[in-house]
Amino acid sequence: MTHSISIIALDGPAASGKSTLGKKLAEQLNFLFFDTGIMYRAVTLIALESNLNLQDEAAVTQLAQNTQIEIRPPSKEDGRAFDILVGEKDITWEVRRADVDANVSVVSAYAGVRQALTEQQRRIGLRGQVVMVGRDIGTVVLPEADLKIYLDASAEQRAQRRYDELIARNQPADYAEILKKVIERDRIDSTRAVAPLRPAEDAVILDSDQLDREQVFEQALKLCQ
Ligand code: DC
Repeated sequence: MTHSISIIALDGPAASGKSTLGKKLAEQLNFLFFDTGIMYRAVTLIALESNLNLQDEAAVTQLAQNTQIEIRPPSKEDGRAFDILVGEKDITWEVRRADVDANVSVVSAYAGVRQALTEQQRRIGLRGQVVMVGRDIGTVVLPEADLKIYLDASAEQRAQRRYDELIARNQPADYAEILKKVIERDRIDSTRAVAPLRPAEDAVILDSDQLDREQVFEQALKLCQ
């Protein structure tokens, strides 16, 4: 091989299975797994906890610029893939809260927020040996990625996945409500002015409606080789 793959961009809509695939690929290749959605979630969580008005773009942007988000190896065996810290506060599970889900699309549509977080992501990505997961990795964060994968799935199938996850964690879940939210998040993520969700022109599109988890992984691994 003359040029081995070092930077992998993995994009796609909410709950398409990107994290599962990204984690497995990174493990197999011994690369860093970096889920960029967590950064948008962390800013949203801190904004909610500080009672910031989420409609105030300047205030939320300033918060994103001043918030140091740390991703560290897991300190507990409670199903986490890594620790997420802001200062000394462990927010690993809090970033998955329903109020974060409901507000993160608004926060991630702000240009200033995206700029602040994109810079941090790019710095980490350019070190190489990384599987970076998000919405705009192949198009904006790391357009020079060696391999770009866009993992797609229907809204129904993604809502089912979120529903199953909640049930597995003994949390209340309403399929119709989840589906509505998935569709609304897709709409906001793909119509925003800055870095909307879309496949890069040179991305390989994998459709997880047609393939099960193992097949998606096998196809992605083949692309890496
Ligand atoms: O993948 P996720 O559900 O954790 O993403 C949370 C939100 O962050 C989602 O609304 C889209 C946004 N996001 C983004 O705009 N760009 C990224 N690179 C990653 C996530």
